[in-house]
Amino acid sequence: MSAFSLFSLVILLHAHFTSSVRLLMQTPASTRWSSMKNTTEPSRTEPCRTGNPTDDCWRCDPDWETNRKMLADCAIGFGRNAIGGRDGEFYVVTDANDDPKNPSPGTLRHAVIQYEPLWIIFDHDMVINLKEELIMNSYKTIDGRGSYIELSHGPCITIQNVTNIIIHGIYIHDCVPAGNAIVRDRPDHYGPRSISDGDGISIFAGRDIWVDHCTLANCKDGLIDAVYGSTAITISNNYMFHHNEVMLLGHNDDFLADKKMQVTIAFNYFGEGLVQRMPRCRHGYFHIVNNVYTGWKMYAIGGSANPTINSQGNVFIAADDISTKEVTKRENPLGYDDWKAWNWRSDGDLMLNGAFFKPSGQDSPGSYARASSMVARPASLLTDIIPSAGILNCKIGQQC
Ligand SMILES: *[C@@H]1O[C@H](CO)[C@@H](O)[C@H](O)[C@H]1NC(C)=O
Ligand SMILES: *[C@@H]1O[C@H](CO)[C@@H](O)[C@H](O)[C@H]1NC(C)=O
Repeated sequence: MSAFSLFSLVILLHAHFTSSVRLLMQTPASTRWSSMKNTTEPSRTEPCRTGNPTDDCWRCDPDWETNRKMLADCAIGFGRNAIGGRDGEFYVVTDANDDPKNPSPGTLRHAVIQYEPLWIIFDHDMVINLKEELIMNSYKTIDGRGSYIELSHGPCITIQNVTNIIIHGIYIHDCVPAGNAIVRDRPDHYGPRSISDGDGISIFAGRDIWVDHCTLANCKDGLIDAVYGSTAITISNNYMFHHNEVMLLGHNDDFLADKKMQVTIAFNYFGEGLVQRMPRCRHGYFHIVNNVYTGWKMYAIGGSANPTINSQGNVFIAADDISTKEVTKRENPLGYDDWKAWNWRSDGDLMLNGAFFKPSGQDSPGSYARASSMVARPASLLTDIIPSAGILNCKIGQQC
């Protein structure tokens, strides 16, 4: 799936922007790269440093497999302090089965509930269909590099009341609710869980969380939702497609603990078939930087309850439909007098095919200090390099 975004972005590199939009919509993914570049192995011939700070930190290393934990020092943005399982042992998942109450050693659930820090890897390709939500304990990395790991057609990941989680390189799709069941969340504790939302990744009262290079699609609720006082989160380099309510950041308008929330959304590729909430924000501080958006069906960035939105260096490509050119949407405001003071700015974004961002509030950099987490690269970087969002096809002994 990472290949799809790669192909799409290559079009931006080579074509004029307005015509690129049509190409993105109409050309089958498999034909794009070869028609533009006459090769199916783009990454081998390109320099490994691309200007993407996270990727440049580790992807040039052919020994990435030996040095897996280097990744933990490559985080950017508000979630950069998430160390995951860096200071712990490796845990190798060998078994794709799932027993929510008494998980067997070797399963993903057995790995994520442990108390000690663990860097969780997989010994072969796996499709994991969980029976109940996967309730994670603190200080865990789930690292799918080197295998094809799919979490699908069941409940997916719950990050609740915990810290220091890294999720990297897994394909999460068709997540559905479950619940009214007994689920183990610690080695020495299980308990009843009510119906889960059906999110891809649900973050509830979590902090120091980093979701990087995942592919996410078609879940029942959000692809990644963060609520209930969650903060210090980075969502980077992901490829998302075919989904309605993509990302909810903030519990509800009356939940004031979300005023401290800080989230970085960086270098993601918002692909085909996405409708709204990329993200939908409440109360806190949101740095939305160096992402590519293609053809949202309703809006891209929205919110309520006075969130601060700092949009920098993104590429927004509107769909052809004249009614969906606006990037922004204020949800349920009391009117202009209410939202005119909300700090929402677009700084250095590239607006294509008629896309426009309706700013409000202050434009001084100082007003965005708490919504600034990294230096934005010029949006032209996203069109000049060959970014690769989503899961990567990492081979042992080769640059990834
Ligand atoms: C790719 O390049 C090779 C050698 O230059 C050429 O023979 C081939 O026809 C090209 N293929 C396409 C699809 O352009
Ligand atoms: C998280 O904390 C809330 C209370 O704030 C509690 O209801 C919930 O069960 C906790 N979840 C887990 C997985 O411990």
